[in-house]
Amino acid sequence: MTINWTDDKDTFGRMFVLTQNKLFSQLCNAVDNEGADLSDALSWGQLKSKRWLVSELEKLNLDLGIIFLCAGWYATLAPMLFESSCIIDKIRSFDIDPLCERVAETINKEKVKNNWQFKAATVDIHNLIYENFKYETHRYDGSKLQLTDSANTIINTSCEHIQNFDVWYNKIPSGKIVILQTNNYFEIEDHINCSNNLREFRIQTPMTTLLYEGELVLDKYTRYMRIGIK
Ligand SMILES: C[S@@+](CC[C@H](N)C(=O)[O-])C[C@H]1O[C@@H](n2cnc3c(N)ncnc32)[C@H](O)[C@@H]1O
Repeated sequence: MTINWTDDKDTFGRMFVLTQNKLFSQLCNAVDNEGADLSDALSWGQLKSKRWLVSELEKLNLDLGIIFLCAGWYATLAPMLFESSCIIDKIRSFDIDPLCERVAETINKEKVKNNWQFKAATVDIHNLIYENFKYETHRYDGSKLQLTDSANTIINTSCEHIQNFDVWYNKIPSGKIVILQTNNYFEIEDHINCSNNLREFRIQTPMTTLLYEGELVLDKYTRYMRIGIK
């Protein structure tokens, strides 16, 4: 067995040796080989918000089918969903930042290798189509790959980041499962679509059937979540 990690600060590498859980080696590779800075993605606020999402979804016991993870960033939500009791066919993560694709795939490497149960692509979510969406992604060797997917479920935990949010939301066909989070953390420059409270978020995200809504008070901000059928 060859272990190349020499950095004593490399907690993920050492956790992999301790547990043999592949998620740790994938996180380690994302940092060491893909230059990912996971400090924000794995902050308490982000992790608690995503654990809250997964816990509420598990209670609903829905068949989520194919998930489009919109503005999916490093797709740290994907391993949490795959490890949960949620019923999932595939996850597709779309982010406008080209650096995210490779990092997200590295963090979800085992699911990429498993018949592309996970894939990431560089896409402006305003350009998404939810039925037979044809998009370009890449194989591990960097060669281009065309995929076509249809979404059953749309998750966006980055609603506070989305310009022209209403235009994006209006394009989602009715009948889709939608799982949305935003927050009231107005102080961050990139947060151009925060909500002051759950009522404001409700007005922005009309649903025909509401399955869950709530708020999670965190140290620096409050996160709002709505789950339902569009
Ligand atoms: C900082 S991250 C996510 C924070 C969020 N609270 C979460 O954990 O999901 C916000 C992401 O939204 C992405 N983003 C913003 N606008 C987008 C768009 N129009 N299409 C795709 N991705 C977008 C950014 O590139 C970034 O990766």
